[in-house]
Amino acid sequence: MELIYEKSRPGRRAGGVPRHDLPKAEIPAGLRRAVPPRLPEVTEPELVRHFTALADRNFGIDTGFYPLGSCTMKHNPRVNERAAALLGFRDLHPLQEDEGAQGALDLMWRLQAYLAEITGLPGISLQPAAGSQGELTGLMLMRAYFADRGEGEQRDTIVTADTAHGTNPASVTMAGFKLEKVATDERGNLDLSDLRAKVTERTAGLMLTNPSTLGLFDEGIEEVAEIFHGAGALLYYDGANLNAVVGRSRPGDMGFDIVHINLHKTFSQPHGGGGPGGGPVAVRDTIEPFLPSPQVVRDGDVFRLDHDRPKSIGRVRGFAGPFGVFVRSYAFMRAYGPELKEMSDVAVLNANYLLARLRDVFELPYDRHCMHEFVLSARNLKREHGITALDVAKRLMDFGIHPPTVYFPLVVPEALMIEPTETEVKERLDEFVDAMHEIAREAAEHPELLRTAPHTRPVTRLDEVRAAKEPVVRHDFADRATTPAGTV
Ligand SMILES: Cc1ncc(COP(=O)(O)O)c(C=O)c1O
Repeated sequence: MELIYEKSRPGRRAGGVPRHDLPKAEIPAGLRRAVPPRLPEVTEPELVRHFTALADRNFGIDTGFYPLGSCTMKHNPRVNERAAALLGFRDLHPLQEDEGAQGALDLMWRLQAYLAEITGLPGISLQPAAGSQGELTGLMLMRAYFADRGEGEQRDTIVTADTAHGTNPASVTMAGFKLEKVATDERGNLDLSDLRAKVTERTAGLMLTNPSTLGLFDEGIEEVAEIFHGAGALLYYDGANLNAVVGRSRPGDMGFDIVHINLHKTFSQPHGGGGPGGGPVAVRDTIEPFLPSPQVVRDGDVFRLDHDRPKSIGRVRGFAGPFGVFVRSYAFMRAYGPELKEMSDVAVLNANYLLARLRDVFELPYDRHCMHEFVLSARNLKREHGITALDVAKRLMDFGIHPPTVYFPLVVPEALMIEPTETEVKERLDEFVDAMHEIAREAAEHPELLRTAPHTRPVTRLDEVRAAKEPVVRHDFADRATTPAGTV
């Protein structure tokens, strides 16, 4: 496909800027452009076709089944876009004074109340813009909490599971803590004897996903909480997998002290390609004074942003947080109403249906019922036919299905991490099962077909190492040898 720069011809236009009668801006000579910017010049139909063709080559949740484990790629109800586009929300200036933003503050306050109910923890900050930023905020809260108790120097270590998402150790390091990893036992739970040996008076806390990235609910979670609280440490819940438990169990009741919620996953928000997201944190009352400032509060019937928070860790994001995400999440929760738990029930049911139908064809490393996702291993295909999890993932694309997450969690060799979500109907789940069975047959009969897949996509097998090491993410005229001569 031609690049927009290759389509460009001098003098073609897709639109014009109206003439204005404003005085010329006084821009210092040193900051002025010497030559006009060199932009692609195309007609409007060419422009529309170009970007439509690009969009057609993309794959998204609106294109087909997208079982990307841990990412919770569920349908985003369109009505939420209507709500987010209401003029009073859409056109609100981020610096609007509180009196002129009562509706928006009201919505944020209500969203806080729902999140407090769902997590079982009373203090909420909506500021963090992603799960990973929620993690960093949570660790900063732990630091502030221990510093306030005079234990800031002593508590320098955070424990994570060996199944943890990569952002967990990254956040621990960014927050200036040391990292201690704990093993997983044969049932997929935290190994309690390894854990006991690693929790000391230097431990600040645990950072854990429950259900874990194996899609398994930790059966020893109450004992885990006792071990940490007994040592004076805190428990942080990585809420990326909250989609499995909403309305059924609450991190606060499990013993966690700080939680982040990935609004963009559990409460729907288009989030492929990196954003926008929302990662609010919920905390126990003992940690509430340290929450980021400002906080949304209610005085009688009036809502305001409270900046008077002397123990706060300060701002972690500009303005009041990713507001459009709040509107969509609030609308999503209201659409379910008190039956929000059905969302998690169906997510868990769909995952267990797939697990039951796939376990005969792929290896199942932990033989238990799963929560909202599960991890299979393509180890049997590798052993018998030299076919890897990557080959399976690439071949799925030829069936019009987005690959699952592969090679994660690291404790499972040739891992395929599958998360169907609650928004898929049985026919789509069955199509996925059929595709996986067909691929397993092909592995035995035509392994070469898998090794060279995909065959039907705009690009075939890529050199992924080179793509990561030498990414080409930008083109302009200077890069294009074919640029028509004389264009400016
Ligand atoms: C288990 C887990 N923790 C944390 C994160 C980080 O969340 P975010 O991508 O919003 O930063 C993810 C994201 O995929 C995740 O799956």
